[in-house]
Amino acid sequence: MIETTINKLQGHVGEDVVIKGWLYNKRSKGKIHFLLIRDGTGIVQCVAVRGNVPDDLLELCDRITQESSLIAAGGVRKDDRAPGGYELELKNVEIIQMAKDYPIALQSHGPDFLLNNRHLWLRSRRQHAIMRVRHATVKAIRDFFDERDFVLIDTPIFTPAACEGTSTLFEVKYFDDKAYLTQSGQLYGEAAAMAHRKIYCFGPTFRAEKSKTRRHLTEFWMVEPEVAFLDLDGVMDLAEEFLEYVVRRVVDTRRQEVETLERDITKLEAVKPPFPRITYTQAVEKLAESGVEMKWGEDFGAPQEAALGGMYDRPVMVHRWPAQTKAFYMKRDPEDERLALGVDVIAPEGYGEIIGGAQREDSLEVLEQRISEHDLPGEAFKWYLDLRRYGTVPHGGFGLGVERTVTWLCGIEHLRESIPFPRMLYRIYP
Ligand code: 4AD
Ligand code: MG
Repeated sequence: MIETTINKLQGHVGEDVVIKGWLYNKRSKGKIHFLLIRDGTGIVQCVAVRGNVPDDLLELCDRITQESSLIAAGGVRKDDRAPGGYELELKNVEIIQMAKDYPIALQSHGPDFLLNNRHLWLRSRRQHAIMRVRHATVKAIRDFFDERDFVLIDTPIFTPAACEGTSTLFEVKYFDDKAYLTQSGQLYGEAAAMAHRKIYCFGPTFRAEKSKTRRHLTEFWMVEPEVAFLDLDGVMDLAEEFLEYVVRRVVDTRRQEVETLERDITKLEAVKPPFPRITYTQAVEKLAESGVEMKWGEDFGAPQEAALGGMYDRPVMVHRWPAQTKAFYMKRDPEDERLALGVDVIAPEGYGEIIGGAQREDSLEVLEQRISEHDLPGEAFKWYLDLRRYGTVPHGGFGLGVERTVTWLCGIEHLRESIPFPRMLYRIYP
């Protein structure tokens, strides 16, 4: 008999095959036993009818427990009523290991219980679908930049200083000294952009977020393109082309998973350029009109992002922020010194900020002044200032959070399901 996998059953209709996997679920109706077997590539319904199969196989169907590992043999049948469209007429089942008391029942559990069992929870149908959307997202991100001649540059995890503000730094012992886990690869990306023109870094980043929200992780993945001779408008053009590409690729390659998640796919299909571009000041006015008041000069919180995102059917780009809300490295608007040339891209449907980017300050003198205004350790930024000393040029880039993006694409509630093993304020297990 030919060994195959569940995602390839359509090529074996009418043949006998062997599959290796685990018992996902089972039920019986009168003299018919149904085993739902999963093998990592999919789930297939297997049928054993009393009278057609040996009694010891029926007895095994009675005994077999959830998540037992097994080797099953049977005939492949096309059946439109079966989930997935194909069915296996069971001929034999060999148990590899009989699992005892699998803790996750198929009915619902609370989030803490599921997170404590994340190593097992990953096997469930929903989590399986989410991880595949995540993979497709990461692949689309890489392909987008690779196809456009961006060079992948890996930036360090141990860093001597802050990039995104000192309040969320993770300090670690570094021999007799201390270091910080990276908050962003951007500063190193800027160095690499001066060497290669167009680069991206892609890796885990860390923020000691003390808040317990559904949108913050302490460890998350970020992709950060950085481009020489790019101004703020260019950064927004790139972000727009990039997001459309990623969303389209996920819709094209992971439609089945998105449907498993019962996510309204027409909302993703609407993500087409041009994306609206409004200034921070216009955004504050729009928010006030819709009853969400805030003081000019303050950063957006979750309510502002949700309200603004809800006004559009595609991501909205908010640019030119009050400088005090943004990082030290952003260039000021030559037309209005109070503003930083930064942009946040806010996803629709209340998913909030998915991209933060900017045109960078390219003047040595101004940057020196900003570093001291922000009370940052001058010594740790000496190398960064060299980039302005030796051939400085206008440049810019952005960072996209993978988990925020996957959460939006999947239409799920909480970032914790968008990464295999989430790290949060009170969670570092499993
Ligand atoms: O807006 P942020 O802080 O921007 C930067 O780090 C820049 N240095 C990027 C750049 O210009 N190269 O973060 C960028 C994105 C956010 O829009 C969000 O998607 C994600 O990173 N992000 C988080 N995701 C999960 N948990 C957190 N605690 C996050 N903080 C930021
Ligand atoms: Mg931001």
